[in-house]
Order: sequence, then C-alpha cells, then structure tokens
Amino acid sequence: MKPKKQFFTTPIYYVNAKPHLGHAYTSITADVATRFNQMNGVETFFLTGTDEHGDKIVQAAQDQKTTPKEYADNISKLFQDLLPVLNVKNDLFIRTTDPDHIKVVNTVLSKIYDSGDIYFSSYEGLYCFGCERFYQERELVNGKCPDHGVAPKTIKESNYFFKMSKYQEWLINHIKTNPDFITPTQYKNEILSFLKEPLEDLCISRPKSRLIWGITLPFDEDYVTYVWFDALVNYISALGYPDGDLFKKFWPGTRHFVAKDIIKPHGIYWPIMLKAAGIQIYNGLNVHGFWNVKGSKMSKSIGNVTDPIKVTDVYGIDPFRYFLMREMVFGLDANFTEETIVSRINSDLANDLGNLFSRVLSMNHRYFDGEVKGADTAVEKEKSLSLSSPAKKAIDDFKQAMSLCEFHKGIGAIWQFISIMNKYIDTNAPWTLAKDEANIPTLKTVLYNLIEGLRVVSCLIYPIMPETSLKMQTTLCIAKDNNKFYTLEEISPWGQIEKGTVIAKPDILFPRIDTDKVISKNNKKNSAARC
Ligand code: MSP
Repeated sequence: MKPKKQFFTTPIYYVNAKPHLGHAYTSITADVATRFNQMNGVETFFLTGTDEHGDKIVQAAQDQKTTPKEYADNISKLFQDLLPVLNVKNDLFIRTTDPDHIKVVNTVLSKIYDSGDIYFSSYEGLYCFGCERFYQERELVNGKCPDHGVAPKTIKESNYFFKMSKYQEWLINHIKTNPDFITPTQYKNEILSFLKEPLEDLCISRPKSRLIWGITLPFDEDYVTYVWFDALVNYISALGYPDGDLFKKFWPGTRHFVAKDIIKPHGIYWPIMLKAAGIQIYNGLNVHGFWNVKGSKMSKSIGNVTDPIKVTDVYGIDPFRYFLMREMVFGLDANFTEETIVSRINSDLANDLGNLFSRVLSMNHRYFDGEVKGADTAVEKEKSLSLSSPAKKAIDDFKQAMSLCEFHKGIGAIWQFISIMNKYIDTNAPWTLAKDEANIPTLKTVLYNLIEGLRVVSCLIYPIMPETSLKMQTTLCIAKDNNKFYTLEEISPWGQIEKGTVIAKPDILFPRIDTDKVISKNNKKNSAARC
C-alpha cells in the first residue's frame, strides 16, 4: 500500500544553462503525479530547485564575466519563473546556495565522517571536468568520457573518500527486496547490473586549490564538497532534516523523479549516503527516458535545444502538457517535433475531445435551450443507454495506470471513453431522435449520459490539463467554489449533474492548428520553438 503522505521531487537543475524541454518534462511529470495523488486522497509535498555549486557554474560565470553567485541567481530565477508558465505547482523551491541547505550538508557529512565511513587518501585517476568526477578506464568509450566525448585528464590528488563499497551487498539486497524501489524495471536492472562489478569508493571532496565554489567540508577547511554529495542532500534539507515537521511527515513517502542520465547518483550514491548517515531510505525512484528533438539529442551545436516557453507561447500550456505526457512512454525515449505536437493537438484535443464537448452542448442548446433534462430511467434501461459502465472502466483504468506512472496509458483510458462517447453519438443520432416527438425521452436520456460523461472526463483530465478541466467544469456548472479538483472518490458516482441545470453555449476548447501555417512560419523564423 502506498503511504497516504507523499513527497515528490524533481532533480535540482544545474544553473549552467537556461531551462529546456527536458527540464520542463520532468517538472510537469512530477506535477502530474502530485496532482493525481492528491485526487487519490494523498497529502503531498512537491519540491524542485537548482543545483548551484561546482566547476561548471564557475566556468559559465566566467564566460559571462560575472560572479558564480550572481550567475546562479540569474539562471535560478529562469527556472523559478518557468514553473507558473508550465502550471507546475511546487510547494518549495530549493537552492543549494541557501544557508539552511549548507547547514544540513555539514550535518550529514559530519555524521558519516564520525561514523568512520569517510577516509583521507591520495588518488591518481582520470578526471572529466565536464562531469566533475573521476572515471574508471572501463567506463570510457574509446578512451573518452561517454557524455562529453573528451579524453579525461590524469589528476593526482589527496582527497576524502566515502566507503561506498562497504554498503554494496546491502544495496543489492535492498533493491531486490523492494521491487518498486527503482522503476521502470529496465532501470532497476541497469543498476543491479552495474552493482555486479565491485563498487569503487566515492571521492567526495575537491581541494580548494582547484575549486572554491562549493560547501567547505566541516572537517577540513581546505576542501569543498563534491557537487553530488551536496546536491543529493537537498531532498532532506528542504524538509528541514533532522527535526523539521515536514521531514517527519513526508520523508517516508518520498518519490524522486529523474531521467536516465542520473540514475547512478540517485540509485547508488544516495541510498548509500542515507544508509551511512542512519537516515531512512527513500521510497521510490521513478526514472524516465530522454526527449530527442527531430531525432537528435538536444545540443547547442545542433541548435535544437527546445525552449518550453516558446512552445507554450505557440501552442498553449495544456496542449503542451498533454503532448508531453501522452507522447512519451514513461521510461523510454521520445521524439519532439512540431509535426507531432500539431497532429496530437488537432486529432486528440480539437477533434476527439473539443468536438465532443461542443457537439454535445450545442445539441443540448438546440433541443432543450441548454437545460439538462435528465435521463428517463425506464428508457435508459430498455435501450441500454447508460454510459456509467464505460465511465467506471475509464476511472478504474486511469487510476491503475497513473498509480504506476504509466501516464500515456492513463490518458489512453480517458480517450478510450471519449471515443466510446463519440461513437455513442453516431449510433444514437440525436438529430434523428429530435425529429419525432415519441423519441424525446430517448433524446433526453442520450444527452444526459453524454453530459455526465463529459463531467467524468473534465475531472479525470485535471492532473494533465488543469486549465481545461476547470474550463469544462465551469461550463457544465460543476466547478467547485474554490476551483478545487474532484477526488477519484467524488468523481465515481454516476448521475451527478442535476436535472434543470442550464448550461451555457460552449467555448471552443482547442482551436485547430493550421499545420502548414505553423510549421512553415516557424521554419521561416528559424523555428519559433527553439532558443
Ligand atoms: N544537478 C543535477 C541533478 C542533481 S539532483 C540531486 C543535474 N542537473 S541537470 O540540469 O543536468 O538536470 C538533469 C535532469 O534534467 C534529467 O535527469 C532530467 O530530469 C532533465 N532532463 C535534461 N535533459 C533531458 C532530456 N533531453 N529529456 C528528458 N529529461 C531531461 O543533473
């Protein structure tokens, strides 16, 4: 059983570059998961933030002729400002330069040092400055860093090391006995396969002679903390570890969302750090794949780094959120092109959902002046007109898939129901029923079932498209006073729209996009959706 209080996190993003599509995806995914769990009766806390120490930031600041702190302030603000643009509702935004965070990093380091799991030693190894870490020969591809494509430099240094090897067997056992600890399964297997090799101890310091932009080690002021040892601690410093109420309340139900690029620090370093510091291990790591753009990895040199603000400007927030959640199978890579976003908007949103909404409410206007007439139960039974079973199936399937982070399937369950409703209109042909007075009870029943179906859809789309959900509910006269979402339990009972309600004529939910115009216009401008 999942805990009734859950803590959702995104990675804290590096401030060495502006936010892009990939960052937007993780933040939106964690937001969707948070909102869904709220609908499922879970009390939530949602954290995101920025990772501001390390060589990369110093380098980026130098390039801009500014100080690391000033540079970090500017880029961190871009990440903070992006959240409302994406309608991501975090409870807290943490920065690793926050004094409270620094205090907790010191506490955790001192605890592990005092327990004897940190030792001082001289080390010669291959160091990638881009990754800010040492590599082992076998990890390199043709002698080069797999991420940066450059040969690492040999560095000899005295440093502090964390005895990760001591916890290797414990971690393997923890992963095997907690099947949901790392999901989807392919990533659990990736970590387990990595753990088949002996784990090297982790170098957790950098001498100040080489780097000063970091947190000074509490036990040696000539060194700063390795950026990952600092960054991972954000997840507990944000909750006020060790004594904070938020920590006590939410830490046991922690669910980290990250992409596949950082499973090693999250799946290996972090649980071992927690174990060594005597802190409860987090509950789950949910790993997703990478967004490529037009089939290639996003990169400045290719010029395909996609700016989420520009995409939402062109297509709107809800369509962007819908597209990302529908198009990517959580765990696998996906491809972003303007053609696919436009095609999803036109077919799934404008055609399937938008047309259904406007057809049903327009017919209710045409035949009954917008008044909800209610179902005739005898007719409904006799002609098997109730849509309550497919609605229940949609709610059940949605709940099941969303609980497993199978967001595309959760959305698929709603669209399956939308498709059933669209076919129901064609089969029952309200326009024909309206021609014969004897069929008016059937017409009332058909329209009532469709309006009820729209109610269910408006509630289920909430985590993915909160604005559209509210817009539909306002039109259907069921928006809650505080515009709050409906819980899954509240959605379920069939027949909630009251007879006699008068529903206004619908606005268009999703205008169709003229494919040629948008794509050619954007191509001309060298793509509106890029940085
Ligand atoms: N600062 C570290 C994380 C520390 S967490 C304690 C870091 N930062 S990052 O800015 O590089 O962000 C990496 C994360 O951004 C990925 O794990 C993922 O969440 C998101 N993405 C970056 N590029 C992405 C794609 N192309 N596609 C999907 N998500 C990607 O690593």
